[in-house]
Amino acid sequence: MTKVITYGTYDLLHYGHIRLLERAKALGDWLIVGVTSDDFDKSRGKINVQQPLMERIEALRQTGIADEIIVEEYEGQKIDDIKRFGVDIFTVGSDWAGKFDYLSDYCKVVYLPRTEGVSSSEVRAEQRKIRIGFIGDYETRILTKYYHECSYVNGIDIAGVCARSDRIRKLLGAPDLYVTKDYSDLLTRCDAVYILSNPLEHYRHAREALEAGVHVLCEAPITLDEAEYRELNRIAKEKNTVLMDSIKTAFSTAYYRLLLLTKSGRIGNIVSVDATCTSIQEIDDLDHAWNSICSWGPTALLPIFQILGTEYDDIRIVSRMAEKNYDQFTKISFDYPHAVASLKVGRGIKSEGELVISGTKGYIYVPSPWWKTDYFEIRYENPEENKRYFYQLDGEGIRYELVDFVKTINTGKHSAYISDDVSEAITGVMKMFYTRKNMKLI
Ligand code: CTP
Repeated sequence: MTKVITYGTYDLLHYGHIRLLERAKALGDWLIVGVTSDDFDKSRGKINVQQPLMERIEALRQTGIADEIIVEEYEGQKIDDIKRFGVDIFTVGSDWAGKFDYLSDYCKVVYLPRTEGVSSSEVRAEQRKIRIGFIGDYETRILTKYYHECSYVNGIDIAGVCARSDRIRKLLGAPDLYVTKDYSDLLTRCDAVYILSNPLEHYRHAREALEAGVHVLCEAPITLDEAEYRELNRIAKEKNTVLMDSIKTAFSTAYYRLLLLTKSGRIGNIVSVDATCTSIQEIDDLDHAWNSICSWGPTALLPIFQILGTEYDDIRIVSRMAEKNYDQFTKISFDYPHAVASLKVGRGIKSEGELVISGTKGYIYVPSPWWKTDYFEIRYENPEENKRYFYQLDGEGIRYELVDFVKTINTGKHSAYISDDVSEAITGVMKMFYTRKNMKLI
């Protein structure tokens, strides 16, 4: 019996896939098809795959062409599979010509001509795109990153930017970009908006968008008052629109996996969460610049609320103000019934930007800068038991965030990354800061 093996993602199964599978099958008597796992695709930068693994497998199974379906989970697995299954022929489409010649040490390698004119990428591109607009041109570094990351995401078209001047075109390297000073005008051209205006204006900007039926991705904090956040959430539900917190760290694979590990008890009961985020930047316009609590607070609050919950007993805020509402440094301590947490944030001071989660069996250590990490460690009393975890991180997590935003809009299902109670609790802390409640100035 001649065994043939082939691999692919098989997203949105199309005619090109079927033709390849039929010809692969005709090369022998038994066809094994390896379907890439969601994680494996993500690790090789294929982030736009629309169907989850089980859906892709089911569509493939229904064709009846494969005799056996396996999952491809890691680099180098093809060699293992060929040996394990006693494969005689490895085949893929000619778009991979030459790439798998190294497998000829183990079996025959055949590249089949690729079917012209169809691919999963093209099928995805044909779907209706979400037109996204941007507002807020003081934090230009962040704006530039989000703008450029959109180009990696299927299903998004940039509709324009609401900015103070046309200079934004030069900054973004986009001479034809639609630029307007009129936010309402921008909204008429958009299905969705990314809000990066000053946090004092978020409520107004988000509200106007949601009322116009425009989906909102808002750089956290969404508002500076939890009542306002609840109001926006109510409008979003009423209008059937998405209101999503933008905290890129939440979407990084390493951070998300770390959360799952803490929930599954790998370091025992959690006793303390300590997060530090700082940066030193030249700030020339203190009136419009984001202060430390708004720039870094939501990111540092994220692991605290996602691991220990939002029902803390006590909170103390200590801030050092540079001017007006601009805190150069803020430290917040939380008491929970059985745990504590602390955060230090600063825009204008520097410290070690690490995250430490302490438990009764061990601790998780995420080195600086933990908010954009692809790596963390679990450490135990006995160092031999320590474990290191590495994950792919593309575009600091922004790319995954945008993919998730599109998915949330298209499916109507709430995103799994940041729950409403966490977003609301973040706005609650902001309110305390701005009303100086539980707060000491130094
Ligand atoms: N294939 C083919 N003809 C096409 C598309 C795909 O022969 N028009 C083959 C590929 O060469 C590969 C298999 O089908 O052997 C699975 O390909 P996959 O990467 O899943 O499909 P694509 O349509 O190429 O996906 P994408 O656009 O996301 O890269």
